[in-house]
Amino acid sequence: MKILIQHLIILIFMSKKAGADEVIIAVEGEDVTLRISKPSSDGYMYWFKDSTRIASTNSLGGKFVEESPLKGKLSVGDNFLLIKSIGANDFGQFKCQIKSSSPQQWLIVFNVIKLKVGRNPTGPLLPGTDTTLTCEVETPRGLAQIKTKLKTPDGKDFSKATNVIQATSQYSGQWTCVANDKKEVSISVPVMDFTPALPYHYTSENSPLLVPFSFSSGIQLDDIKNVTQKIEWFFTPKTSSVAKKLFSLSMTKPFKPEVDHGRNLKLSDVTKGNFSLCRNQGQKTDAGNYTCTITFRNGKTLNASRQFEVLEIIPSPGAQLTSGQQLKLSCTTGEPLPPDMQLKWVLPKTSPQLLTDQHSANLTFPEVRTADSGNWRCELWWNNISLVSAVITLQIEPILNTWQLVVVCIAGVILLVLLVLIVIRCRRHKQRRLRHQFCRCKNPQPKGFYRT
Ligand SMILES: *[C@@H]1O[C@H](CO)[C@@H](O)[C@H](O)[C@H]1NC(C)=O
Ligand SMILES: *[C@@H]1O[C@H](CO)[C@@H](O)[C@H](O)[C@H]1NC(C)=O
Ligand SMILES: *[C@@H]1O[C@H](CO)[C@@H](O)[C@H](O)[C@H]1NC(C)=O
Ligand SMILES: *[C@@H]1O[C@H](CO)[C@@H](O)[C@H](O)[C@H]1NC(C)=O
Ligand SMILES: *[C@@H]1O[C@H](CO)[C@@H](O)[C@H](O)[C@H]1NC(C)=O
Ligand SMILES: *[C@@H]1O[C@H](CO)[C@@H](O)[C@H](O)[C@H]1NC(C)=O
Repeated sequence: MKILIQHLIILIFMSKKAGADEVIIAVEGEDVTLRISKPSSDGYMYWFKDSTRIASTNSLGGKFVEESPLKGKLSVGDNFLLIKSIGANDFGQFKCQIKSSSPQQWLIVFNVIKLKVGRNPTGPLLPGTDTTLTCEVETPRGLAQIKTKLKTPDGKDFSKATNVIQATSQYSGQWTCVANDKKEVSISVPVMDFTPALPYHYTSENSPLLVPFSFSSGIQLDDIKNVTQKIEWFFTPKTSSVAKKLFSLSMTKPFKPEVDHGRNLKLSDVTKGNFSLCRNQGQKTDAGNYTCTITFRNGKTLNASRQFEVLEIIPSPGAQLTSGQQLKLSCTTGEPLPPDMQLKWVLPKTSPQLLTDQHSANLTFPEVRTADSGNWRCELWWNNISLVSAVITLQIEPILNTWQLVVVCIAGVILLVLLVLIVIRCRRHKQRRLRHQFCRCKNPQPKGFYRT
């Protein structure tokens, strides 16, 4: 008792002498470190919480944590006291008293102040619903007022009278609670909404098909199961106005995909909040409007649509040509391209053709050569992003040109003449030989007849 009173007297005396108190703002559950710049190493250090001694160190390097409700959370070092995962009742005034062999003594006061940060209700928010953000401090009496403010996910000060916000995609993300322009704590506001997609969607028979539907804010299926009734996917072909249901996922029944209408589409990882549709390869009939609709238990719906076009190369007169023929290639989706889109042609390496305009939708070549055979590619670019490419394989057979034709004709004529000549000569030879034989047999000329 005597010692305690003695300590109290010292404390009162010291706190009058010591100047500014330190203010430490913390959130419940945080680790809080009270740090001092220790004047010398040969002293004793005592830590108090509301005048109860909770820890100490001595000049021999001894470190002690005293019996107190805080005991399990404390660690003490040469120049600090660490409170691990500070509890709701652990906030308040902490003091550090330093005694050394010199007559000098120090007393440092730490005001550990609770910052209340939160959101009500918790969990992902349905678009349009209200939520209240908390970012406040109860400044203890005698201390300068601690100011708090909220910052929106894009880093702007939120200066509204109330901290009630309506869940919109603009407000979705990490808010920040700032106390005294120093302490910052983030508040997650996950608004259920689809991640915005590129304004344009394309596929081709040479590219995969990926219809992107995913949740922003990393919301997963488990997070929304309680408030969701069903998720459905629809497709309206470009050539039709009737939406066909592709898949349906009910939260009450086990997952049961509806008829896919022969589109061979696959669902992505739905449990991870990825509701995209995909197929390894696009097809001509993929052009149209894809919609993903989420129906919530309160009757509200959330939906997103992705309009798809199919890029293809149309060869005229065809993909199988003979050299010398004219060729026209058209790279098109069947619709005019948005003005900020660009086409780019890639020719087979062997092709000697020079393009006057690499970005034109239509290419015309007066004559093709066998070297033009191979894969011709047309790429669609938007803002330095290659969206899709289409490929056509041209097959060009050689054909003889006029000079070659003339040479061949002449050679043919010469061959013919030679043949005729040979035949004629053969005949003559035969006739002569026949006549010879006849003469010899029918009119034998005795040798000595003329001589004698
Ligand atoms: C969903 O409901 C169950 C039971 O009602 C509850 O235990 C669970 O925490 C809820 N999940 C979410 C994400 O709200
Ligand atoms: C969704 O899944 C598809 C394929 O399964 C993948 O390509 C895509 O990157 C995924 N999206 C996200 C946001 O994870
Ligand atoms: C796609 O379908 C949705 C839902 O039917 C509709 O709201 C949207 O306007 C359609 N988009 C286009 C480009 O037709
Ligand atoms: C998409 O949502 C709007 C309202 O947000 C609704 O009017 C429309 O019918 C929905 N479309 C589909 C296909 O469910
Ligand atoms: C390309 O040719 C098609 C006809 O083959 C024509 O309809 C289209 O307007 C042409 N496009 C351009 C950009 O010249
Ligand atoms: C495309 O990339 C080039 C260089 O990489 C850059 O200079 C240009 O600004 C980019 N254009 C767009 C629209 O991003």
